[in-house]
Amino acid sequence: MFVLGIESSCDETAAAVVTERKELLSNVVFSQQEHKAFGGVVPEIAARAHLQRVDDIVETAVKNAGIGFSDLSAVAAAGGPGLIGGVIVGVMTAKAIAAVHDIPFIAVNHLEGHALTARLTADISFPYLLFLTSGGHCQILAVENVGKYKRLGATIDDAAGEAFDKVAKMLGLGYPGGPMIERYAETGDDKRFDLPRPMVGKEGCDLSFSGLKTAVRRLIETSGTFSEKDKADMAACFQRAVSDEIVSRLKNGIKMFKKLYPDGKNLVVGGGVAANMALRRDLMALAEKNGMTFFAPPVRLCTDNGAMIAWAGMERFLKGSVDSLDFAPRPRWPLDPSAKR
Ligand code: KG4
Ligand code: ZN
Repeated sequence: MFVLGIESSCDETAAAVVTERKELLSNVVFSQQEHKAFGGVVPEIAARAHLQRVDDIVETAVKNAGIGFSDLSAVAAAGGPGLIGGVIVGVMTAKAIAAVHDIPFIAVNHLEGHALTARLTADISFPYLLFLTSGGHCQILAVENVGKYKRLGATIDDAAGEAFDKVAKMLGLGYPGGPMIERYAETGDDKRFDLPRPMVGKEGCDLSFSGLKTAVRRLIETSGTFSEKDKADMAACFQRAVSDEIVSRLKNGIKMFKKLYPDGKNLVVGGGVAANMALRRDLMALAEKNGMTFFAPPVRLCTDNGAMIAWAGMERFLKGSVDSLDFAPRPRWPLDPSAKR
């Protein structure tokens, strides 16, 4: 079976084809460069850029997979949450392919794409504890099954990726900030600046990054000039503080998870920030300390891509869970609808 997946919910226009045997036959990702001058994604520009490129990218993905459109078993698109203009572009493209080739259409929750990606490259059974960390979302979830999520905690302010991007902007490192901070941090001294770990020691497993970002801003403002060495040190201190905050909150998350699922022993990460090697190392150590096995998708499958949508689409397709062509794109779409915030 072949499922085509289309991703267009933020600033990546992407498409991929996967099989039910976890073969990733193609994975075409185009990261829009149009936003660089603005230091962040401009929704209108993103929507237009998706529209310009989506047909080519989808055609290339099908061609690179060595198949034709008539071989597809189903077509999936990210149906939200995300920037609505872009989501509409991907969903309309997928619906048109579904209608022309008379195959099922599947609207994939973008967050479910991140949540299930690790299962494309490793055999991970349910339930598992998931740390989902991207530019717009930061949550700790129990993944019970495809489509079944229980949120244990979430950020009370910024997402971790958003904090990476904002701090990178303050340091003049460009967008997206995560990879640049990681690069600068490699040569920096992670003990030079004293930064807060906002939620450490508190009950539950909610997270917070906004105070950390403000502390960085204050230090930059009061220091006058900021040399390359200062930037590297700040990047290292910031990355360390983010990782400490996450590890400390996940420690509580693991306790909550184990209470609910005494047999659950897998810790999984997903989303763009999961590409961060320092964080991955810390999470691996945390998992080991708590008798859990740690899984992270390959770095290129952490940031937005078509494979995550194709694979989540395949998982849904195999369960017979497909959507009607009446599906309306969703700017908001929580994985756990019972979660309050
Ligand atoms: O999952 P993603 O591609 O898009 C969303 O769904 O939001 O995540 C993008 C976020 C950005 O904030 C980016 O700065 C961050 O992931 N990111 C990283 C790294 N690579 C991407 N953050 C830290 N370290 C990285 N290596
Ligand atoms: Zn994403």
